[in-house]
Amino acid sequence: MTRQKFIDQLLKGSRRKPGTRGEAFAPANIALCKYWGKRDAELNLPANSSLSISLGKLGTRTVVKFAKNADRIFLNGKPAPKAFTRRVLAYLDLFRKKGQFFEVRTKNNIPTATGLASSASGFAALIQALNELMGWKLRPRELSMLARLGSGSAARSLYDGFAVWHAGQRPDGMDSYAEAVDSAWPALRIGILEVSAARKEPGSTEGMNRTRETSELYQAWPAQAACDFDELRAAIAAKDFPMFGKTAENNAMAMHATMLAAWPPLCYWKPRSLALMQKVWEVREYGFELYFTMDAGPNLKLLFLENDARTVRKLFPKVQIVTPFPKA
Ligand code: DP6
Repeated sequence: MTRQKFIDQLLKGSRRKPGTRGEAFAPANIALCKYWGKRDAELNLPANSSLSISLGKLGTRTVVKFAKNADRIFLNGKPAPKAFTRRVLAYLDLFRKKGQFFEVRTKNNIPTATGLASSASGFAALIQALNELMGWKLRPRELSMLARLGSGSAARSLYDGFAVWHAGQRPDGMDSYAEAVDSAWPALRIGILEVSAARKEPGSTEGMNRTRETSELYQAWPAQAACDFDELRAAIAAKDFPMFGKTAENNAMAMHATMLAAWPPLCYWKPRSLALMQKVWEVREYGFELYFTMDAGPNLKLLFLENDARTVRKLFPKVQIVTPFPKA
């Protein structure tokens, strides 16, 4: 099935009167059980289900309007860089009618230096803003399927707190959507440790494709991911932090192991990433409940509980601490 057919099917019967403006905010998210590998590139369907935590007020705000003669794309108040513009336009092309143009204004409140200003919150905000502008009145589940076409991890950024993205099995992708996990964990903290703010190379899409095609270890990945997905859900339901942290960290390490066994090898770590990992392992030897996760990049995201925040700050003075379940 083509993207266009998929979109037509989702929008069938839901085209209402377009408005004049759409605006939305979407949080950034960090995967605890990673999405790594596609079962269908055209529909951007994942090989495995994934689970994430959203970063509360850190994310992307986007305003979309109709424009007269040409598209206009802005990022943080300035005309957006070429690569960004190209990706947004390719996505808008999926939805525009002939002769229709858009003005898109996007702002990230994630300090770009954290290396977290990802496409996930961007596409999640954009599709929600488009939903309002076009008057589709789609629900989050359907919007997550459309966000996925921009970037897989964007499906999970439709929600606050924990979110799961079901891999699904259907070739038409209609069972591959994201939904919220109805479980708050106010004591949970995430610590962002920046190693490098440079753009990751290669990007996730190429990284996961290369891994899937060339890494022998990738064969073990879907089964491990399925197991970790269930364990994480159980750990969240039981608020079992050691099980939660261990499963998330192990899942990240297993994903990176599949990459190391790819050809040419993929290693997103920098020497400092490894030094930080070793520091986490060392303090854990002394019984301190601290874990980490890492995406396709060199930065670490620490996982710990509120009561340990002071110690984490002492150990890692540059850490940026995020409260994913802020008090209202
Ligand atoms: C390692 O969502 O960026 O961050 O669907 O090709 O755009 P595309 O990939 P993307 O991949 C994210 C990979 C990851 C793990 C995760 O977020 O689940």
